[in-house]
Amino acid sequence: MKVVVSIGGSVLAPDLRSERVRAHADVIETLAAEGCTVGTVVGGGGVAREYIGAARELGANEIELDDIGIDVTRLNARLLIAALSEQAAPSPPEDYESAGAAMHRGDIAVMGGVTPGQTTDAVSAALAEYVNADLLVYATSVDGVYSDDPNETDDARKYDELDAGELVDVIAGLEMNAGSSAPVDLLAAKLIERSGVRTIVLDGTEPERIADAVRYGDHAGTDIVPDGADDQMTYWVRDEQ
Ligand code: UTP
Repeated sequence: MKVVVSIGGSVLAPDLRSERVRAHADVIETLAAEGCTVGTVVGGGGVAREYIGAARELGANEIELDDIGIDVTRLNARLLIAALSEQAAPSPPEDYESAGAAMHRGDIAVMGGVTPGQTTDAVSAALAEYVNADLLVYATSVDGVYSDDPNETDDARKYDELDAGELVDVIAGLEMNAGSSAPVDLLAAKLIERSGVRTIVLDGTEPERIADAVRYGDHAGTDIVPDGADDQMTYWVRDEQ
């Protein structure tokens, strides 16, 4: 099974504690040892926001700010690479082709950002599309896709399952409300819809949850089921039985 795991910067390194990065690396390593081909994409988190905020005050333009954000995502990717040691490609691939080639060789690819004007949500969806992944997992600090921002609205409803077209509609609605944050952004949702990659959005603050989602489809987040796909995916561990 081929999986792309997207780990938000605030999930991987909210405070630069090495144990947290190690715990995520352990999960990725275990999945790889069990025979899974793994690509990972790491976000920038609070550190990226701080750098971008400071550079904005200094007069940097939006593309320059995005480039700073990309550098921070790649710095976080290097942290995860350090914890994965020899199993990971030694530096963050800067395009999908290099990441796909690393995965093809049997390495774990750990990417950060790629190009200005987007976030690592979209990078993850594009990598999943490029490598023809069976599954894309977003490990975020929110436990799924909600009808509204759960931090702002009491009656925000969590979706257990959405088809990809519904995901696009929900995210488009959320992005219309200034200030409300969506667990994946609209470009990512559109790429998921286009590629038809099965996707899970879950709370990744406990890295083991990522492993359970990949192995068994067990999770408490939101399943994004491609249009026309079977309701039940045959998860790869069960596949082998
Ligand atoms: P993130 O993917 O962490 O952005 O990339 P985010 O969604 O704003 O962060 P979270 O999920 O809320 O923690 C950090 C920044 O890097 C730039 C963007 O400016 C983004 O906000 N970036 C990242 C790019 O310009 N292109 C990329 O491909 C990736």
